[in-house]
Amino acid sequence: MTANIRNFCIIAHIDHGKSTLADRLLEHTGTVMNRDKKEQMLDDLELEQQRGITIKARAVRMRYKQDGQEYELNLIDTPGHVDFQYEVSRSLACCEGALLLVDAFQGVEAQTVANAFAAMEHELHIVPVINKIDLSMARPEEVAEEMMNALGTDPDDCVRVSAKTGIGVDELLKTIVAKIPAPSGDPDATLQAMVFDSNYDDYRGAITYVRVMQGTVRKGQKIQFIRTGSQHEVVELGQFVPQREPCDTLSAGQVGYLICNIKSLGDVHIGDTVSITGDKHAPALPGYSRPKRMVYCGLFPSDGQDFSELRDALERLAVNDPSFEFEPETSDALGFGFRCGFLGLLHMEIIQQRLENESNIDLVQTAPNVTYEVVNKRGETVTIHKPQDVPDPGDIEEFRQPIVRCNVIVPGDYIGAVMKLCQERRGIQKNQEYLGANRAMLTYDIPLAEVVYDLHDKIKSCTRGYGTLDYEMVGYEPADLCRMDIMVNGNRVDALSIVCNRADADRRGRAVAKKLKAEIERHMFEVAVQAAIGSRVIARETVPAMRKNVTAKCYGGDITRKRKLLQKQKEGKKRMKAIGNVEISQKAFMAVLSDG
Ligand code: GTP
Repeated sequence: MTANIRNFCIIAHIDHGKSTLADRLLEHTGTVMNRDKKEQMLDDLELEQQRGITIKARAVRMRYKQDGQEYELNLIDTPGHVDFQYEVSRSLACCEGALLLVDAFQGVEAQTVANAFAAMEHELHIVPVINKIDLSMARPEEVAEEMMNALGTDPDDCVRVSAKTGIGVDELLKTIVAKIPAPSGDPDATLQAMVFDSNYDDYRGAITYVRVMQGTVRKGQKIQFIRTGSQHEVVELGQFVPQREPCDTLSAGQVGYLICNIKSLGDVHIGDTVSITGDKHAPALPGYSRPKRMVYCGLFPSDGQDFSELRDALERLAVNDPSFEFEPETSDALGFGFRCGFLGLLHMEIIQQRLENESNIDLVQTAPNVTYEVVNKRGETVTIHKPQDVPDPGDIEEFRQPIVRCNVIVPGDYIGAVMKLCQERRGIQKNQEYLGANRAMLTYDIPLAEVVYDLHDKIKSCTRGYGTLDYEMVGYEPADLCRMDIMVNGNRVDALSIVCNRADADRRGRAVAKKLKAEIERHMFEVAVQAAIGSRVIARETVPAMRKNVTAKCYGGDITRKRKLLQKQKEGKKRMKAIGNVEISQKAFMAVLSDG
């Protein structure tokens, strides 16, 4: 039975044509009719279409007839971006093969390489595919060679297609059947199914995507998630074709969905194993881990009254995306808001955009920071999600930061510029190799904080958009870091604390102090704006005192006019935050935060 199943995914860089090819495969197998081309089946969130990025893995079943045999082809969609690496790895674990899709003009890009290596680690059979051969600028020979140099694929194995016109798609389907191995697994064995994705349906609750590794799951059965231990009844199961098509059983090798009246997506963990309730013999599948949030920022409504509206909006987002987390945070400077954790920078951008699209709240975002580790004098390792929580210098034994391995693929002319940039960002070069006559891949280990800052934008601008960057976590390494605080008349302004390299602290401290000084209005007394590391002041600016009497102009005559003026001053103050006895407008904080 499994002999006629093929499970595969498509690995591609953004815009190389993954969605278009998926569409064409669905059409050529008769799964869908030739539809409006704009509406692509595999990316269904509106935002994904806007950004053109597949955020969540999905799976579609196709039936394909060849030489009198009918095959079940399951196309599992993988997210293309490094932030979703864990989800990518779970999707790959459900496949026996991967189509490695490369644009015949653009050539191999950084994400292609990262994901292709991940697929090889999972021992998937790789089918190299060169897309867009209809383009007049296509250079399939060179691209096949680049693929060979970067990934070791044989140029003779490359299937050439145009996802747009359909050229080569039939040959590709034949190759999928011929080259990608059928899944193994025994339908009569103990049930073991891998959860590789989930999404939320307002009417049905959580929809769990599974690949059955061993055994068979049936409608009405009681199942349990081995890692979380929760138990549920299978109310419906089936496959996406591409809409939901219920059936009675899913057996070893098959890919499909389960609906079990699960009210919260937080109860479904990607990478978990489904087994039958009470079955003590079913082992959990390997590779399970909880999502790791690497980037944090504070989100505050600029109008404090929007706080509960913001909370509702964040809750709605978290229901659909368990890897996003948030908790209330209070800031002297910005009032009530939330500290939010994301898998990475792109994940953060996506959540922010969704917030903007789905609600009308005007937001202030604090500068993003990464997760640090501090070993204190008592020898305990503390994980730090916000700069304010970094202990005082006297209590720090070791300060560690996350390091990522970056692969940058650039045309030869820009190698020098990218190397300079990576060095400025404290990168350590690990490798450099040529993929083709005029394309090189540079590998650097760089602190994630430097990448988060704006490395991607900088690489794009110094390579005129041709450079691509991808990265993966290497681990935590000790570094000479410190917490820099901003003090106003001796009081710390929590929202402005940052973690930075000691060598950069002076420069950054001076810049922030200067900027804040410019934003603070004069008071009746002198206001000192200082940057400090622990108790050591590294920069100081002073706002001179001024006597201000708003009613002086009124000559004591007209009392109503006087009242009006005082009232106006009071309203202005509502938006002021008090740091000790100094009042600072929220606008001032925003100005300082807005460009780091
Ligand atoms: P993401 O969803 O952003 O990851 O992109 P994708 O890889 O799914 O790319 P998509 O299918 O959206 O295609 C990107 C662009 O390339 C679109 O404008 C397509 O119309 C175009 N395109 C895809 N395949 C071909 C092809 O074979 N030939 C030509 N000329 N254009 C193509």
